[in-house]
Amino acid sequence: MMLKKTFKNIPLDPALFKTKDPKGSLDWWATFYDEHFADFFMAVADGDELEATVDFLRKRLGIQKAQRVFDQCCGNGRLSLPLAEAGAHLVGVDLNSDYIQKATARAQFKNFACDFYAADAYEFVSPAVCDAAFNWYTSFGFAASDDQNFQMLQNAFASLKPGGSYALDYFNAEHVLKFFKKLMRREYVTSAGHVELVRESRIHSSRMEQCWTYVWPDGRQVSKTSSFALYTPGDIAGMFTKSGFITIEQYGDVWGAGLSANLHRCICIGRKPV
Ligand SMILES: C[S@@+](CC[C@H](N)C(=O)[O-])C[C@H]1O[C@@H](n2cnc3c(N)ncnc32)[C@H](O)[C@@H]1O
Repeated sequence: MMLKKTFKNIPLDPALFKTKDPKGSLDWWATFYDEHFADFFMAVADGDELEATVDFLRKRLGIQKAQRVFDQCCGNGRLSLPLAEAGAHLVGVDLNSDYIQKATARAQFKNFACDFYAADAYEFVSPAVCDAAFNWYTSFGFAASDDQNFQMLQNAFASLKPGGSYALDYFNAEHVLKFFKKLMRREYVTSAGHVELVRESRIHSSRMEQCWTYVWPDGRQVSKTSSFALYTPGDIAGMFTKSGFITIEQYGDVWGAGLSANLHRCICIGRKPV
């Protein structure tokens, strides 16, 4: 599959980026998403943005009560559960079986209509066709092969009824390049106390490669690496068209802003033709 890839390597400062994962980045996503990532980035507490995201998905995908909605790479059900609470029937898939267990337990406790599957989204197609689908929070572009990444879009397309819409939330590669930061440090308050996250980044072979080091109050450190394809908004629109989606729109955030290199998201929405 041909994509426009024109990014120059941003030279590596060897002292800065240390690939601490001895296994390298092959299928890094199978071990990267763990309880620490969930604590730091998928906590349900993120009230305002979560609410705006749920509203955005309901409005832009035209989700009605009792409709079936596919959450591709659903994590711990952060978005599936509020959508189910609003009356939709959710089908969620995630590779991480701990996340799926948590999502299932929460759905059962609340008596929500949810079917969660621990499976690989590069292969999984919803067993029942859905009225709408989404893939949220940069759960795409992990594989080194463009064809494999494209397969995830095709699986979303195959999971939809004719007329159904799909939203893919990815980072905006143009923003990443414009505001590139080699080093980011952030502190999080967790049940274990203040935990620091140090994220070291580089652009290499048209991919964003990052080393994430969590530093606990007792000095313990865990490092993980990630790697994402730097697909531009144009590349993503091209993949949507190639999958068969029509009426493609792109947004820069969930409050309805248009796509912009000043905003870090590229939310792409397309419809399966009737
Ligand atoms: C950044 S998290 C986002 C989770 C969720 N979409 C959200 O917004 O909270 C990425 C998720 O993708 C899942 N994932 C990564 N690769 C996957 C694959 N090949 N199949 C299914 N899930 C995958 C991870 O386990 C993780 O839960």
